[in-house]
Amino acid sequence: MDFDERLISSSMLAEDASVEYSLRPRFLNEYIGQANAKEHIRVYISAAKLRNEALDHVLLYGPPGLGKTTLAAIIANEMGGNLRITSGPALSHAGDLAALLSNLNEGDVLFIDEIHRLNATVEEVLYPAMEDFAYDIIIGKGPSARSLRLELPKFTLVGATTRMGLLTSPLRDRFGIKEQLELYTHEDLIEIVTRSAGILNITITVDGALEIASRSRGTPRIANRLLKRVRDFAQVSGNGIIDRDSARCGLEMLGIDELGLDAVDRRMLTAMITKFSGRPVGLSTLAASTGEDATTIEDVYEPYLLQLGFIARTPRGRVLLPAAYSHMGYAPPRDENSQVSFL
Ligand SMILES: Nc1ncnc2c1ncn2[C@@H]1O[C@H](COP(=O)(O)OP(=O)(O)O)[C@@H](O)[C@H]1O
Ligand SMILES: [Mg+2]
Repeated sequence: MDFDERLISSSMLAEDASVEYSLRPRFLNEYIGQANAKEHIRVYISAAKLRNEALDHVLLYGPPGLGKTTLAAIIANEMGGNLRITSGPALSHAGDLAALLSNLNEGDVLFIDEIHRLNATVEEVLYPAMEDFAYDIIIGKGPSARSLRLELPKFTLVGATTRMGLLTSPLRDRFGIKEQLELYTHEDLIEIVTRSAGILNITITVDGALEIASRSRGTPRIANRLLKRVRDFAQVSGNGIIDRDSARCGLEMLGIDELGLDAVDRRMLTAMITKFSGRPVGLSTLAASTGEDATTIEDVYEPYLLQLGFIARTPRGRVLLPAAYSHMGYAPPRDENSQVSFL
């Protein structure tokens, strides 16, 4: 993968992981943006504390890098419980989950990332655990087998997913609280970049922060990564201060255009224009023409292109909208009706 593409994609290096940890807000009042989700969660947490109960199970969904893991940790902090972290792919056997569950204390938060990737046997252990705080074990085999029910401490499950649609409905229904995280506004991202710059001891002007914010695809993780890369440029080729000019210069060298599109976006949009003339294209075809896998296109690239109004999803595939043509420097096709009719 190219240097610049890593900035956008969800893959993470060890260095990124430790910086990301240091930049994570720890309490709800440090969590910027997401007004709806934040307010809902604030109310549910206060109510649960008043009743001296565990918070209801929470499902967080939305594209990568929007703050799901951060919010799970904040919930644990605000509730005064410990956070245990695991993920759908990491729990391959029912026993893995049982071990985690039996080590929980009252009020703990169990965070399962990529919860849409749980396998069916593990998921079945989760149902009674979520509903009745119970774990059923079968003792013996054949006709003499009997089931024994163990009680679990009252914990809160926080599940995160980029794909709400891939969750089974019995699992989805067992979450009392479901919050969708949305792409952040430029104002929110300016605040996030400024806050991160403060933590990392980087001097940045408001214009510099706006330049980074507006190219971060509505995503705090990308904003923080761009901030660090732009600092490198500012230190090497300037006075180390990030202002509008040094930010622009750095971002251009990273191959990120003024809307935050990178080489993969441009390959995808160009293919849709030149190879497919704006006709509907299937996801796998798009993946093949950009060299990215379909999941990455769908989770990482598409949400932002949809929000920009560059592409639309139709039952027959993805179509390109006029705004994408002009951004890429092409004239929209003459027969515009064929585009618009898919909307
Ligand atoms: N609301 C927010 N306010 C400030 N920083 C945030 C916010 N949401 C996310 N971040 C930053 O973005 C990074 C990625 O967030 P993360 O919770 O790991 O996203 P996700 O789990 O959804 O992929 C975090 O390290 C954090 O620094
Ligand atoms: Mg995460």
